[in-house]
Amino acid sequence: MGEGRRVVCLPGDGIGPEVMQQATRVLIALGIGFQEYPFGGAAIEAFGRPLPPDTLAAVRDADAVLLGAVGGPQWDHLQPRPEQGLIRLRKELDVYANLRPAVGDGVDLLIVRELVGGLYYGARGVREDGVVYDTCEYHPSQVERLARRAFELARTRRGRLLSVDKANVLETSRMWRRVVAQVAADYPDVELKHGLVDSVAMQIVMSPQDFDVLVMENTFGDILSDVAAGVTGGLGLAASASLGDRAPGIFEPVHGSAPDIAGTGAANPTAMLRSLALALEHGLDEPERARSLTAAVEEAMRTAPTPDLGGSATTGEFGDAVLASLEVAVS
Ligand code: NAD
Ligand code: IPM
Ligand code: MN
Repeated sequence: MGEGRRVVCLPGDGIGPEVMQQATRVLIALGIGFQEYPFGGAAIEAFGRPLPPDTLAAVRDADAVLLGAVGGPQWDHLQPRPEQGLIRLRKELDVYANLRPAVGDGVDLLIVRELVGGLYYGARGVREDGVVYDTCEYHPSQVERLARRAFELARTRRGRLLSVDKANVLETSRMWRRVVAQVAADYPDVELKHGLVDSVAMQIVMSPQDFDVLVMENTFGDILSDVAAGVTGGLGLAASASLGDRAPGIFEPVHGSAPDIAGTGAANPTAMLRSLALALEHGLDEPERARSLTAAVEEAMRTAPTPDLGGSATTGEFGDAVLASLEVAVS
């Protein structure tokens, strides 16, 4: 029944705490215990740093980490800023595979984004001549472990994998393509194709229903997952699971802290609740409850749509609808 599970919640900033509140209501309804810790801008305010030691220790000890969102204009000038806490957290937990599903309207695609390497983690700095640089770096082993995860996932779906790169320009992409092609030999049942990121971005906009699983570098995945969210109902709906080889995974919406709507009650908690469903499935070994929650969220999207879905329900009213249909489902 979920007793003994350690869920750590990191609400963060902006709409982060607003959508997290709906997730913690569901955890309570399911009888799953959790603890909240400061993270991001909120932790900078309280402790002067985005990822305080107590938060990191709690997260390491968790079975699953739920994360709202971090960042906001008031912290943009700081060093480290809230986003750096998130970048460090992902690295500390080595959650290298970031699953970002986009579903709806005949579309059912899954972006598998490399999350602890590439352009986000390569050498960076300012040279003496004033040139500023960020570098994209990968060891083949980082590509290989991600590729295996992507092939495994493709196997459980429609058996099609598209590896996305910029092999016509980048050295890392040429290595990426080679390594993914080598791994493919172990998965003869999966159909592998390669595509260039610029053209794939266009195809996701034009015909998103053509895709199954896509695997790509960190920055490419950041950008294409917002594109995929955009063609399947918006950022309010897009969830993610960040997984390593062992627990805990991090489960968080694709969206950010949305300062433009924070405090207005307009945030759609679907992305957060779908991320909780991914936590139930991938972190807490509760696949049936994951399905019930997913169904309850889908119903709430019809009965209590938030403004981004063309309705007028508040974040809390959406949560009410989810809980009402969940209680029917679990009782
Ligand atoms: P954003 O994702 O916060 O918002 C983009 C647009 O989508 C906004 O118009 C916003 O109102 C809307 N939106 C986002 N989530 C929504 C929801 N649940 N319901 C309804 N509308 C929603 O991106 P941004 O404005 O570019 O970034 C704001 C801040 O968030 C920045 O500081 C950025 O660094 C940070 N950020 C954090 C994360 C994260 O914590 N994982 C992700 C992305 C951006
Ligand atoms: C995301 C966000 C983060 C990223 C930022 C906030 C560091 O945009 O999770 O998509 O770029 O990974
Ligand atoms: Mn992003």
